[in-house]
Amino acid sequence: MNDRVIPFVDVSLTGKEKEAVIEVIESKRLIEGKYSKEFEEKFKAFTGVKNAITCANGTAALHLAMEAVGLKPGDEVITTPFTFIATSNSILFVGAVPKFVDVQSDTWNLDPEKVEEAITEKTKAIMPVHIFGLPADMKAFRDLADDKDLILIEDAAQAHGARIDGVHAGNFGDIATFSLYATKNLISGEGGVVVTNNEELAEKVESLKNHGRTLEGGYKHVRVGFNYRMTDLQGAIASVQMDRISELLEKRSKNAEYYRKIIDEIETIDYQHIPKGFTHADYIFAIDTRNSSIKPKEAVEKFKEHRVMARPIYATLSYQQQNFVNIKEWRWSACVNYPDYTKIHCPISEKIGPNHFEIPVVPSLTQEERERVAHAIQGIFGKS
Ligand SMILES: Cc1ncc(COP(=O)(O)O)c(C=O)c1O
Repeated sequence: MNDRVIPFVDVSLTGKEKEAVIEVIESKRLIEGKYSKEFEEKFKAFTGVKNAITCANGTAALHLAMEAVGLKPGDEVITTPFTFIATSNSILFVGAVPKFVDVQSDTWNLDPEKVEEAITEKTKAIMPVHIFGLPADMKAFRDLADDKDLILIEDAAQAHGARIDGVHAGNFGDIATFSLYATKNLISGEGGVVVTNNEELAEKVESLKNHGRTLEGGYKHVRVGFNYRMTDLQGAIASVQMDRISELLEKRSKNAEYYRKIIDEIETIDYQHIPKGFTHADYIFAIDTRNSSIKPKEAVEKFKEHRVMARPIYATLSYQQQNFVNIKEWRWSACVNYPDYTKIHCPISEKIGPNHFEIPVVPSLTQEERERVAHAIQGIFGKS
């Protein structure tokens, strides 16, 4: 019997990543090259998006997307407060104004109807996040963006493997970003990818991530750019991981399905509901305690007794974070009118935030471990 404490993060590497990294070191060509390019080809084939551009991390990918679509200081970008802080920070980077709109109670994703109501003449873009790997309602957002002539940006950092009617996340927006951070479904340690079906945006991102150079390289700089390149050490890990993505996703899905069946039997707890035709990428499996008297802090302690790691995630919403409370300290406040974020309220997000926590869904779980997690869920929340 395996007696490990069941982790919610367990980086899955085989000897092949090591071999590939050693090959890069031995080649002495550490900068972006063979493997990062190979990874981009594999990622395009996997997602079906025409262009994939690697970069240093998911936050850099978001920043590149904001720059590429041409957001200007004062432009409003509508997004969700129920996400990692990088989503809204990237809007702040370019002087644009995050406008937080509430999520749907069942999917925990940005609500298209509420977004429509929130659009003003200052709105330039909509940025849904596929939270925990469940796609946002991208068909509704695409229609809305087309109808109102807005840019649609997908924060797909958590969504490798997420699909709607078989179409992979990243194909719905004008531009989309993924993270390859070490905990994600697909990893390179630190790393990111920008994807787009728009050739012009792809060329801009390629240039922006490389000091605003022309695509021929050399020392011609046609725009203000950054150094957001990834190294080929990261590229090597990502490329090898790509070959195992289906297997890794299947394992996550098997774990999540197992938990959903257990939770279906317990009246007081729930999970993200998956709309018909949507494929959850199962990056994070979170339990919803809105209707339970047992709250995340207590539950996490009890999971520990079962040797299962669990943790609350976005208990603090983005607009409740100190960087938004103190937005006047941000340099763009000198010339951009930010709202008083302490006055913003998204009631559903405010309920879900402190009422959810993560349990392990990592690919390495064995049947015995899945059962141990299930047993813990039943023991803590009781069968109805
Ligand atoms: C929704 C979301 N957006 C953006 C990011 C930023 O990605 P990175 O950590 O690679 O910078 C993350 C990373 O965790 C994320 O979860």
